Amino acid sequence: MNHSVNEEIIEVSRAGGIGDVLMCTPVLRALKRLKPHVKLIFYADQHECVRGLTYIDELLPFSARSNKAVWLGYEENLRKSEGPHNAQLMASRLGIMIEDVKPDCVIDTDLVGQFQLNWKSLPRPWVVINRRASDWTPNKDWHDSLWLKLIQRLDGLCGVIEIGLPKEGVAKFEGKTFVDLVGRTTKAEMIAAIGACDIHVGPMSGPVHVAAAAGKRSVVIHGGYEYPTGAAYPGNEALYSPVECAPCWLQEPCPHQKKCFSQITVDMVEARIWRAWVSSSACPGSLRAATNNTRQGTQSAELIFGELAAPRVLSTTSRLYVAYRPDSDIMYNRHPELRGLVGPWVENNALNNSGDLPRLYTLSLNIKQIIADGVAGDFAELGVYKGNSAATLAHYARCFGRTLFLFDTFTGFNKKDFAGVDSSRRQQFTDTSLDLVLRNTGIASVVCVKGHFPESVNRDVQDRRYSVVHLDCDLYAPMKAGLEFFYPRLSEGGLLIIHDYVNEYWSGIRTAVDEFCQKIHEGIIIIPDKSGTAILRKSRH
Ligand SMILES: C[S@@+](CC[C@H](N)C(=O)[O-])C[C@H]1O[C@@H](n2cnc3c(N)ncnc32)[C@H](O)[C@@H]1O
Repeated sequence: MNHSVNEEIIEVSRAGGIGDVLMCTPVLRALKRLKPHVKLIFYADQHECVRGLTYIDELLPFSARSNKAVWLGYEENLRKSEGPHNAQLMASRLGIMIEDVKPDCVIDTDLVGQFQLNWKSLPRPWVVINRRASDWTPNKDWHDSLWLKLIQRLDGLCGVIEIGLPKEGVAKFEGKTFVDLVGRTTKAEMIAAIGACDIHVGPMSGPVHVAAAAGKRSVVIHGGYEYPTGAAYPGNEALYSPVECAPCWLQEPCPHQKKCFSQITVDMVEARIWRAWVSSSACPGSLRAATNNTRQGTQSAELIFGELAAPRVLSTTSRLYVAYRPDSDIMYNRHPELRGLVGPWVENNALNNSGDLPRLYTLSLNIKQIIADGVAGDFAELGVYKGNSAATLAHYARCFGRTLFLFDTFTGFNKKDFAGVDSSRRQQFTDTSLDLVLRNTGIASVVCVKGHFPESVNRDVQDRRYSVVHLDCDLYAPMKAGLEFFYPRLSEGGLLIIHDYVNEYWSGIRTAVDEFCQKIHEGIIIIPDKSGTAILRKSRH
């Protein structure tokens, strides 16, 4: 190396993978800005990612470092406390402070364009997943069984592109909208794939930094290995489990079967992906999920779109129309979780629910309002069938620390209830089971109370208070019993959401509700969804 006399030279070094090297870039950028005339020599590997960055004057292998090179370390401080971003810790080694920690990475734009062209037929968002961090520790990796469930969930709904190196014990997946790039890319191609995607999902590893450099959001599955703040970027979704042994920084196999990762469910990761997507500028806010399902579930219905929808719908017998989605969702992204809930909403039951987005919005927005109003109590549903509406209730129960009680025979109507107005009913809703329901709702925070209601009532449910109760049991007798059981146990300000109130077919519902409301001097509000839901909000005294 020949340096001219008087030339000031600053040498820095950093070992490690892509992430470690990229985290140096905001430090080197700031250093060059502060001292434009110095010659900056960087000793590191992973040259593909940083070769050509204008503020690095000379890039040499880490193994060639001189003993004058300043080591850009961060690990020592990280072990002690949560602290700032790693790049800020590295900057302190050079005696400078930095605010902007966004890394730079050299990304081949031709390759990015090529990937985007290849993925054109895949539904958006294009989610790039990286299941494994480096071999440094096994304790950054989420469980493979959960990864597979997540990929299965996303397959068909969005483009799922898997990157990374082939690793032992990582089960392969084949799917409709799944692209397997594992072991099939050069490093530059892998970086370009991240640059081409909408969202990246993976452990705290190099791709998180590449995504940040490319302006893409990551859903980072941290578990409990390290604090999330060490490498946090704006817009990222961090899933950190603050178990008592976290952060462990452990390189040996975890003695607790990585319980920190078991706390991170597929539902949680999926919800974060949709949240990241709806708040990303690439998201068109489309109706794709809902309208696709609508088409599948409809036999002869006509779909009416556009500005003429309202007059045309009202002058035809068309059953389905594309309803307005609330501004709070489309313009302000207040309900990103609905993108994840629309699947369970139609699972095994597309015909009934798929066109009824207003019903889904009604459930979702009102449950959130109850929580915002601070109404205490658990959730319940009488009439579960395959668990479609229950899946929505279960999601919010988990989010807000409530328990959801699900009351049903799980084998269909009970003949005992075929009396009075319902005396000529036939058996229905038998094609279900407890297992099928729980697969749709998930088991966390869900308790099933199996049997004919109200005989199925037990001590536990009797002694509870409820904040949201969904009554959807079709017949007069269970509806009457449901109102009588739940209303006294409903917190003031709590909700009884009653399906089928304006549905002539199940005429016993209206009768039961009207009789009950007269007795308790309460009123209802009717929602014009498919079957005419009524909502009773218990008065506050
Ligand atoms: C329309 S389905 C519920 C649909 C479900 N809420 C949804 O939207 O996804 C009605 C359910 O009420 C249940 N049901 C009716 N009477 C009941 C009773 N007396 N006890 C327990 N379950 C009952 C039936 O077994 C059936 O599963």
